[in-house]
Amino acid sequence: MSNRIAVVGTGYVGLTTGTCLAHLGHDVTCIDNDPAKIELLESGGIPILEPGLPELVAEGVAAGRLRFTGDIVEGVQGREFVLLCVPTPQGSDGSADLSYIESAARSIRDHLEPNAIVINKSTVPVGSTRVVANALGREDVHVVSNPEFLREGSAVSDFLNPERVVIGADDQAVAIRVAALHLRLAAPLLVTDPATAELTKYASNAFLALKISYINAIAAVAEAVGADIDDVVTGLGLDSRIGQSFLRPGPGWGGSCLPKDTSALIRIAADAGYDFSLMKDAVKVNRQQFERVVDKVRRVAGEPLEGRTIAVWGLTFKAGTDDLRDSPAIEVARQLVAEGAKVRAYDPEVAAGADVLEGVEVVDDPYACCDGADALVVLTEWPEFSRMDLDRVAAALAQRAVVDTRNVLDRAALARREFTYQGIGRV
Ligand code: UGA
Repeated sequence: MSNRIAVVGTGYVGLTTGTCLAHLGHDVTCIDNDPAKIELLESGGIPILEPGLPELVAEGVAAGRLRFTGDIVEGVQGREFVLLCVPTPQGSDGSADLSYIESAARSIRDHLEPNAIVINKSTVPVGSTRVVANALGREDVHVVSNPEFLREGSAVSDFLNPERVVIGADDQAVAIRVAALHLRLAAPLLVTDPATAELTKYASNAFLALKISYINAIAAVAEAVGADIDDVVTGLGLDSRIGQSFLRPGPGWGGSCLPKDTSALIRIAADAGYDFSLMKDAVKVNRQQFERVVDKVRRVAGEPLEGRTIAVWGLTFKAGTDDLRDSPAIEVARQLVAEGAKVRAYDPEVAAGADVLEGVEVVDDPYACCDGADALVVLTEWPEFSRMDLDRVAAALAQRAVVDTRNVLDRAALARREFTYQGIGRV
């Protein structure tokens, strides 16, 4: 069955969701208030790096099932479903800022069809379905929570092969209508009340953050006692109650979701009278991880860092995306710059000369990046980094020193070339 759907917001979540719904056969209009973005999309361009998305956008547009508009009023008219996919950035007190979502709700309220369903996909504090309903002020329109679980870099595949679809609705008949949108996806469906759906989203992202902080903490212990984190993770993962996923040590977790959602959950809990000290500690461990990386740089490059040149490979918050938001790499670079180091960076998805951070020069060649540097620091796990010519790296650097925060370089090959080496959770 084909439904008429409007998607408000064409960021990672909105554009992927709208495009995939069109792929499933629905008639979708994607709306954004950024005219440049709409112009780009209408001309066949894609504003984000997301594997598989350009092909599906082209498919939807060619089939006449996907279109773009900057006009929110025209965009929602005649639509049975309106998906809100606008940002919920972190406010100054850690809570999620709902101003975009409320403003979107106010813009559409007078233009919604009777019996329309407004689906909130943005990550919002428990109780926000009510906030949206209040902003809409329409008794004849339903509001439902349907959190997304899309990872940047694999969002299309995550949408089309979901591990679960969570629908938070007060009314069963409305939940069934929303469930019908996902009929072609073979996924377990959880229908619950809105507050439970909203909390499920936070609980998921926060748990992922906890896992990574946990393994980074174990990595610190491994370094101190002379154990090897890779083998520890293998040993852990063989216990089916634990599993291997999301236990890769690194420079800390970042991106547009985990940092803001953990802060928001701490805030939600505090407002409800619970001191979420476990979560607070996970956030603290994450901050310490950035500092631990800088410490390692000091150790291999030599102290003080002032006046030294540090080469950085990788700026995005993880591989497979061009997103720099809340990137651990940027945080580490910021601390290096603050200590007076000159930072030269290379990232396959960041253009040379890009203005990522004051004091950081972005170049377009990984070897030129190392030229005359006192150390190389690998901060993102781009697969190409493990295939680099280490003789060229050694020749370019002023001293053979490397910090590999993603454990992607060949440690033995570095040792043969007499590099001073620091990984994470290895000795
Ligand atoms: C995250 C969640 O994984 C998605 O399920 C969720 O839908 C999304 O947030 C969201 O709320 O929209 P994403 O922000 O794309 O997705 O990034 P992740 O793949 O979760 O990675 C987050 C950070 O953890 C990255 O900095 C990554 O490098 C780090 N990480 C991840 C590790 O250090 N180790 C790991 O084992 C896994």
